[in-house]
Amino acid sequence: MISNDAKIGVIGAGTMGTGIAQVAATQGHHVFLYDAYPQQLEKSKAGLESILARQVEKERMTQKEVDGILNRINFVDNITGFGECGFVIEAIVEDLDIKKDTFARLEGIVSKDCVLASNTSSLSVAAISSALKKPERFLGVHFFNPAPLMKLVEIIPGIATDKQVFESTKTFIKSWDKITVSGKDTPGFIVNRVARPFYGEALRIYEEGIADAATIDWAMKEIGGFRMGPFELMDLIGHDVNYEVTSTVFEAFYYDPRFKPSFAQKRMVEAGWLGRKSGRGFYNYNDDTKNPEPTKDKQLGQKIFNRILTMLINEACDAVFMNIASVEDVDLAMQNGVNYPKGLLQWADEIGLKNVLDRMTALQVEYREDRYRPNPLLKKMVADGKSFYEE
Ligand SMILES: NC(=O)c1ccc[n+]([C@@H]2O[C@H](COP(=O)([O-])OP(=O)(O)OC[C@H]3O[C@@H](n4cnc5c(N)ncnc54)[C@H](O)[C@@H]3O)[C@@H](O)[C@H]2O)c1
Repeated sequence: MISNDAKIGVIGAGTMGTGIAQVAATQGHHVFLYDAYPQQLEKSKAGLESILARQVEKERMTQKEVDGILNRINFVDNITGFGECGFVIEAIVEDLDIKKDTFARLEGIVSKDCVLASNTSSLSVAAISSALKKPERFLGVHFFNPAPLMKLVEIIPGIATDKQVFESTKTFIKSWDKITVSGKDTPGFIVNRVARPFYGEALRIYEEGIADAATIDWAMKEIGGFRMGPFELMDLIGHDVNYEVTSTVFEAFYYDPRFKPSFAQKRMVEAGWLGRKSGRGFYNYNDDTKNPEPTKDKQLGQKIFNRILTMLINEACDAVFMNIASVEDVDLAMQNGVNYPKGLLQWADEIGLKNVLDRMTALQVEYREDRYRPNPLLKKMVADGKSFYEE
């Protein structure tokens, strides 16, 4: 059990580590935030101070609360203090060897009951745990960016994780005012697996020349109710990051064509058009006049939205079919990890599973590609006349 007043260790003071430290300190925990690079610690501290100062300006927090949070975070350049921690989470560079080395060193310092977690997005929990003498106390605890704002945390037990460690970590993270879901230790866990078609199918439609980026974004926002279109979102995430995740998931799924990366995105990465951060992606961020207006054709928009949503639902069905997560957790994950306007399986029920299957089958008939194969669970549920959320 992780005690309610446990001291928390965070390894890596980058985007995620700083956010997680903020969450833990806001919940009243004493936090050790460690980074191997002193300049990163300074950057993390300055960034946090400025984020929290803005909270005071906006009257969302008092100066006293902010001082409390900052006082509870100890920015440290070594992990010797981690012996006092009840829970340690790692958020360093996404490199298996470096993570394994870090956990092997950490295990020699922490107490025997300390729970160890990784915030990895794409490495397997099993692979990281192989560095530990006691892998039973280790699991994946996957926060979303920005950690203080995004409610979702995926809790991922590895094959060696002790059931009690899993349960108590879940309860503990929930007590941080987070929504937890649990998923199997498989590539992309829940969100990064189920969300692939949001980008992949949008890119495919774009590559086929059915519509331009602005029109696809317009369709997904105006007709679908998504907060951001896929191209705007890829520009924000960065094409280097998004392409890397797609390629990793594709390889990890033994090259399943459902996850095939796109040449259009690869070329953007090669050209250095990484999105907002480089000033240029699918949109031009230096000169807005160069950005095309969407073609606001309702019929075309509906066709685009139907196709992307159908592929997303098919992927959500696969996550349930393959026991990656429960129906409820898949829906919670997509609504709270990537702000989808509705749970995909709830959406499927509303559209009617037979209609979803018909749309999927039409794509398969048109393209004759394995990418468009309807999921067996979807087919079975239609044959049995079932829905995901029965009355
Ligand atoms: N950025 C995201 O959107 C996001 C979301 C969920 C999960 N993640 C995962 O979280 C982890 C961190 O991602 P990030 O975006 O915060 O990265 P980041 O580059 O912002 O931060 C990584 C930090 O780790 C430090 N570091 C590198 N090697 C270290 C070592 N050996 N010991 C201690 N510190 C070390 C770096 O100095 C840097 O400050 C990765 O595993 C990533 O996959 C990222």
